[in-house]
Amino acid sequence: MIKASSVLTLYNNHKSLDGKTVTLNGWVRSVRDGKAFAFVELSDGSVIKTVQLVVGGDKQCFETVKKLNIGAAVTVTGLVVNTPDARQPFEIAAEDITVEGGSQPDYPLQKKRHTLEFLRTIPHLRPRTNMFQAVFRIRSEVSFAIHDYFHGLCFVYAHTPIITGADAEGAPMFRVTSPGTEREFFGRPAHLSGSGQLEAETFAQAFGKTYTFGPTFRAENSNTPRHANEFWMIEPEMAFCDLEGDMDNAEGLVKHIIIHILETCPYEMEFLNQFVDNTLIERLKDVANAEFERMEYTEAIELLEKVKDKFEYPVGWGADLQSEHERYISEEICKKPVFLTNYPKELKSFYMRLNDDGKTVACMDLLVPHVGELVGGSQREERYDVLLKRMNELGLSVEDNEWYMSLRKYGTTRHAGYGLGLERMIMYVTGIANIRDSIPFPRTPGVM
Ligand code: 4AD
Repeated sequence: MIKASSVLTLYNNHKSLDGKTVTLNGWVRSVRDGKAFAFVELSDGSVIKTVQLVVGGDKQCFETVKKLNIGAAVTVTGLVVNTPDARQPFEIAAEDITVEGGSQPDYPLQKKRHTLEFLRTIPHLRPRTNMFQAVFRIRSEVSFAIHDYFHGLCFVYAHTPIITGADAEGAPMFRVTSPGTEREFFGRPAHLSGSGQLEAETFAQAFGKTYTFGPTFRAENSNTPRHANEFWMIEPEMAFCDLEGDMDNAEGLVKHIIIHILETCPYEMEFLNQFVDNTLIERLKDVANAEFERMEYTEAIELLEKVKDKFEYPVGWGADLQSEHERYISEEICKKPVFLTNYPKELKSFYMRLNDDGKTVACMDLLVPHVGELVGGSQREERYDVLLKRMNELGLSVEDNEWYMSLRKYGTTRHAGYGLGLERMIMYVTGIANIRDSIPFPRTPGVM
């Protein structure tokens, strides 16, 4: 294997590398050839930036480049030449170019700006564009930041099952059956997990602090820019913790992620700031320094009721908030992230802790400008009798959930947790508007 440098290293060290020979592996983004010189733009995936190769001195190189198509994979060796007056701070005077894999002239990513809609039709190639170099590198760094945050707080990472019989949210699920039949492969109904929460609660009652981070699946037929049928969710669960502690932890996580990507992805963030949303970096810096708002559902409804002729869906106590309401609260009323708490119990899941008013549950949704709901969580009902009553009211099977109920019999604790949707977080920090552009291979109704 050739020991190669990387474009990122060159950007960080080009001054001291002036006149030195380096080798790069990468893919051709564009070729311009003239009579005596040719210019090749090369990307190697180490950073969103590309490097310019100047080809002319070596005749064989020049002949090779003349035959190159966009998309070809090459290895190039050449001299670093600093160019302080040019658009790029340095270039490479190529001395040797080897074609590792040629590309056909019909390569779909020619040198022009493609629409995101078109790029969705070629998910196998779109990571090679600037936009997806930025989004998917940031996705990778966000994932790292999440593990880093919980690891720093001594949480234990739990791998909850993907095939499960547990049902936290009551959302439609993808069933898992024997191949070619409708028979229950596992002897009882099973589906792809829509949440690892119930299983994570078992770890919380053993390790104290735990989190899951994995793919989740929902069979909802929602064709919106914010819903996917396969998405990744981060679900921490904490024993001896109430709703306030839950919100503190979620606020800390969101800020940790933002600080991490501003630090580790400066070129990618600059690109998104220039081409997607020119308030992005400023906005995220503000969020990292702001105290998130905390507001009760009841107060939010009162504020929304005062807004005239704006919403498609009616508002009133007891009504679920639609995306237009969620965005109005965070974008217009609070102008920053806001935790909405204590929703009517009818709107929320069976496991949420009943408040003393008997009408609301100790839950929170974190609403953020641009995206709407980013986090959903709650304090859990730790009282066996209250949980049993709620399950009976909702007609849920106590038998199927006996293991979950039994956690309330053996050393039960106050406990709380939440779910952060990774794709919504990516939308939030990149400014992209459609969830289909936040995940490498989006799964949405009718599309795979
Ligand atoms: O509010 P949700 O449904 O909460 C739960 O699943 C709880 N079990 C979490 C917990 O308390 N452990 O989902 C949590 C988050 C949402 O706020 C949203 O960010 C994301 O998951 N989410 C989706 N993201 C993309 N597509 C979908 N269809 C999503 N549904 C939820």
